Amino acid sequence: MSAIVVRPATAEHLDAWASLRHQLWPELSVADHQAEILDALSQPDRLAAFLGIDPAGRVVGLAEASVRTDYVNGCETSPVAFLEGIIVDPPVRRQGIAARLVAAVSDWARRQGLSELASDAELHNTVSHAMHAALGFEETERVVYFRRSL
Ligand SMILES: CC(C)(COP(=O)(O)OP(=O)(O)OC[C@H]1O[C@@H](n2cnc3c(N)ncnc32)[C@H](O)[C@@H]1OP(=O)(O)O)[C@@H](O)C(=O)NCCC(=O)NCCS
Repeated sequence: MSAIVVRPATAEHLDAWASLRHQLWPELSVADHQAEILDALSQPDRLAAFLGIDPAGRVVGLAEASVRTDYVNGCETSPVAFLEGIIVDPPVRRQGIAARLVAAVSDWARRQGLSELASDAELHNTVSHAMHAALGFEETERVVYFRRSL
């Protein structure tokens, strides 16, 4: 078991948190991620984030989750917890850090009184599919999004 500590994310790690977020969602700038993080920290009942921190104090993993009150494909209850994003630094992957981050998210969701944790992944992200399966998620649906200009 790696010596990573998993704990709730705080503004103390704003820069590292925003950097991991930017790797997950590069369409937003780091500054925009910092603004979103500060907004998220003001809504602890709806949004949660956990960091994996190594013995040197480096942030090496992030999981974010929300309470979704809109319909979530494949779920049987509403609201549900939703794993919005998860990322682990490449050098420390396959050491169980994502598993521990998801365990922290699950504990948080149970404390919110929720009974389902949902998630999604892009079709090509087979590593993410494997991680979800390994961590007890079952695949529910595959969907294609569309848009048109009006
Ligand atoms: C997906 C990701 C978060 C997994 O993080 P991780 O800390 O390496 O995952 P864990 O070590 O906790 O792995 C848990 C289990 O998931 C499965 N798994 C994880 N990575 C895998 C891989 N590359 N290939 C196959 N199975 C994998 C394994 O069953 C693993 O257990 P095992 O190592 O005992 O076999 C990490 O690969 C990552 O950051 N990827 C890029 C970002 C991303 O795609 N995030 C998901 C967006 S939906």
